[in-house]
Amino acid sequence: MVASSENSLALFELDEDELFDFVVKKGHGVKGLVDSGISHIPCRYIHPPYKLADLKKVSNFPTLPLFDLSGLCDGSIKSTIAREICEATKKFGFFQVINYGMPLELLDRLMNSTREFFRLPAEKKAYYLKEVSPFENVYYGTSFAPQAEKWFEWKDYLSMFGKEEERAFWPQECRDVAQEYLKMQEPLIYFIMNSLLKGLGVPIDDEAIKSYMESQAVNMNYYPVCPNPELTVGVGPHSDLAALTFLLQDDIGGLHLKVEDEGWVEIVPTPGALIVNVGDTLEILSNGRYKSVEHMARVSNTRDRISIPIFVSPRPETRIGPLQGLAEKDGGAIYRDLDFGEYMNNFFSAAHDGKKTLDFARSMLDQE
Ligand code: OGA
Ligand code: NI
Repeated sequence: MVASSENSLALFELDEDELFDFVVKKGHGVKGLVDSGISHIPCRYIHPPYKLADLKKVSNFPTLPLFDLSGLCDGSIKSTIAREICEATKKFGFFQVINYGMPLELLDRLMNSTREFFRLPAEKKAYYLKEVSPFENVYYGTSFAPQAEKWFEWKDYLSMFGKEEERAFWPQECRDVAQEYLKMQEPLIYFIMNSLLKGLGVPIDDEAIKSYMESQAVNMNYYPVCPNPELTVGVGPHSDLAALTFLLQDDIGGLHLKVEDEGWVEIVPTPGALIVNVGDTLEILSNGRYKSVEHMARVSNTRDRISIPIFVSPRPETRIGPLQGLAEKDGGAIYRDLDFGEYMNNFFSAAHDGKKTLDFARSMLDQE
């Protein structure tokens, strides 16, 4: 345990390798740095001014799309809503939903279990580090891709995935509540995926729709209090890998999305609301009609922050590419066909860099 001010000074002065060892390899994470009492963030977390400049221009954007999904579970939902959701998604790449049938009490338990997990001593969390974890369906980590990053992100996370029968090894602090949460979100996830894919106007059967949402991961993101929030990011600008992301955030704020013609817009937290955003996979499937939205998160110097995304994706062996019939309608395929696993491996091989990830799937036609 590192806790004295002497130690915190020592941590600030760690060289690159020692910092990597402490934060990444030993699993102390950003939380371990903060718990040691550091008064200034280590250099590795300081992003260069040219990277941050753009992020400082945040506009007020009062009319973000918000849908009330009352009636989703008993089937009395408005019949026009699916079309409205498709339109908003084409325009913005994201929207918010409220009243989607989730008890607020469950959301509280989910948030509390996240806090409980990150409060564990580093040795316990380190058990789930990707490099050493004996389990395939859960891992704990920090930043995004520390091996490939020049600058680290101010974030620790826990990622839990796999089929129902593969979830026994999710950490006991969050296993039951995360499963309950995922189960309760099934109708919402299916409704949105079904609406968006059918809204593309080409024939698609239920089996294909299900194959694009077969893998569902619950991530728990933990952003500790940061002594110099203006010098770093919680998550740098990126788009998500998934087809869709369903993100729950607490009341701290900090999530910013890039909106065409507006620039960066902060999503002010609405209690219980979820933010649904398009990821790269749906951009590929829709041949670019639904665009994955670039987003990032800032951190705070007064409170820690938790966000919990569900990432909805195909399984690695599933083929992705523009849905059959779309390329003909659109005058060509912007994206090529590839296995989702191939796209995923490329996605995690480099630091966050806006929407550059999609270049990997661009078709020859689009590169000409
Ligand atoms: C992510 C992400 C944003 C947030 O986990 O991919 O973009 O608000 N999180 O935590
Ligand atoms: Ni994201």
